[in-house]
Amino acid sequence: MESDTETFLREKAIEMERRDISRTYIGLPSDGISILGYVTVSIKCLRVPDDNCLSNKALEKMNIDGATGIAQSYLIGQLSRSKDSPRGFGSVLMEVALRQLTVSKSAVGCRLVRLDCYEELIPYYGGHGFRPITRNDDGTLNQMMRLI
Ligand SMILES: CC(C)(COP(=O)(O)OP(=O)(O)OC[C@H]1O[C@@H](n2cnc3c(N)ncnc32)[C@H](O)[C@@H]1OP(=O)(O)O)[C@@H](O)C(=O)NCCC(=O)NCCS
Repeated sequence: MESDTETFLREKAIEMERRDISRTYIGLPSDGISILGYVTVSIKCLRVPDDNCLSNKALEKMNIDGATGIAQSYLIGQLSRSKDSPRGFGSVLMEVALRQLTVSKSAVGCRLVRLDCYEELIPYYGGHGFRPITRNDDGTLNQMMRLI
């Protein structure tokens, strides 16, 4: 795996699990020895800027608070597959995450999922139904959203 994602798994995921900040789902092969990949889901509000790239139809469905411009949202915080995993395993993990979040939606509400990604991955997440919203404040990452 990329070193920063590996570091997240080793140093942060367990602590965040203990503190009930997030949940990390790990893909294991049948021998259970190596890790094929993982996805981390959590909750993080989304501030929708006025100069966003979203359609009015999408904005209407996001339940944005009129006074603050903030919408409640689930977060896909990490998604990574190992080099030894088959191509497309990232998409399997994405499906796992969306399935879990859909269960949460049924139990507690909230129909929005957000993520932050590098420019190169916008087409990839676009293929999973995510739409660009805006760039992050520091300009390095792009915010994307989809409805569930
Ligand atoms: C992103 C990721 C989870 C996708 O896994 P997947 O669903 O199994 O799909 P693949 O790895 O086969 O990649 C799908 C496409 O995205 C492209 N892609 C993947 N990571 C990319 C990256 N960092 N930059 C540019 N393109 C990337 C692949 O080249 C591939 O394109 P192709 O089908 O035209 O060859 C996986 O590539 C990964 O773990 N990457 C490293 C970690 C990472 O970047 N995570 C996302 C952080 S926002």
